[in-house]
Amino acid sequence: MAVLVFLASMTFELNRKPYVLKIPVGFPAPLIPADNELTVARVKLGKKLFYDKILSFDTSISCSSCHMPEFSFSDNRTVSPGVKQVMGDRNSMPLINLAWSNSFFWDGGVSSLEMQVLKPLTSHTEMNLLLREAVYRLKTSKDYVKLFEKAYQCEPNPNALFKAIASFERTLISGNSKFDRYFYQKDSTAFNASEKRGYLLFFGNDKVHCVSCHSGVNFSNNTFQNNGLYAEYKDEGRARITGHKNDIGKFKVPTLRNIAYTAPYMHDGSLKTLEEVINHYSSAGTGHFNASLHVHTGSQLELTAQDKNDLINFLKALNDDDFIRNPAYRQ
Ligand code: HEC
Ligand code: HEC
Repeated sequence: MAVLVFLASMTFELNRKPYVLKIPVGFPAPLIPADNELTVARVKLGKKLFYDKILSFDTSISCSSCHMPEFSFSDNRTVSPGVKQVMGDRNSMPLINLAWSNSFFWDGGVSSLEMQVLKPLTSHTEMNLLLREAVYRLKTSKDYVKLFEKAYQCEPNPNALFKAIASFERTLISGNSKFDRYFYQKDSTAFNASEKRGYLLFFGNDKVHCVSCHSGVNFSNNTFQNNGLYAEYKDEGRARITGHKNDIGKFKVPTLRNIAYTAPYMHDGSLKTLEEVINHYSSAGTGHFNASLHVHTGSQLELTAQDKNDLINFLKALNDDDFIRNPAYRQ
């Protein structure tokens, strides 16, 4: 009897073994909800679900079909096909440092990483699966029944499904780029001359002021901004959520980490290269009524060819190859 009690409590302890995040130097504490503390069992379950095609209507795609590790968990398409090749209307977003974000999607329509999962799972342009059917499939898999029991001490249910995937996503941490070595780890030799000039332009105030929006550990000030991409927006962005005219054309300021891996760019994938992005910021702009005063609208920004080149080299110095290659993130 005593042995059985001992064994049961050992298993109990094992299932609750905490998953310890490696927080990069300079980062604040991550946002982890009290009712979904990270454990090894939860991250393991979440990873399996993230890569499992069982969660799409015709078992043809998984989360990873549009969020691939080699593209910093985005993909290389303008917009991505869901089941039966039905196209979405937005560019897939990279999944990086989500434990430091509190609004998700280009329009910030969802404020919890757990609740975010519901949309791709059920959307007809993505995995198109009824929640009921998802749970049925998981409940009829012996493997998943065991893994849910270990992770959340329950049978497969929507709540635990969302929590497990969010747990895996919170482990996707990038903080070891050249920029991190220079800025947070204080290695003054990390940048070459061009990257250093690009860094000064990015943070400077005389020509461009990228950092007025792309700031903080994630290069996002967590606001919604109109960066003057269009004179008229097909996708109203933040206004889809708020209904306010002054939110038309505003989108979540995206992270720039690993940006060289996530082409094409912008909410609609309309800019193919970093050169096109820099040319957009340096051109006369479109004069949209909501365009931020921090982007040049109406007059030409005088970026020289060298400035442009330096900015691009700086953006490439945000690459974190350890993140892209991390075997713990891969299937
Ligand atoms: C068919 C392609 C596709 C599939 C499959 C897909 N996604 Fe996405 N994902 C996208 C697109 C496109 C966006 C941006 C959508 C928007 O802004 O409306 C996105 C956005 C996100 C975001 C927001 C990131 C941020 O920084 O705001 C998260 C998190 C995410 N997806 C996770 C998942 C998870 C988890 C799954 C599986 C349950 C999944 N996705 C399946 C295409 C996909
Ligand atoms: C007014 C705020 C603001 C400023 C200033 C700004 N950006 Fe952006 N940036 C955004 C927003 C918002 C988006 C997304 C816009 C969209 O999709 O329509 C974006 C998108 C981008 C993207 C594409 C990201 C992706 O994942 O597709 C890159 C690269 C970028 N910005 C770099 C820069 C650089 C370099 C500068 C300085 C020259 C700069 N930004 C200045 C707000 C800003």
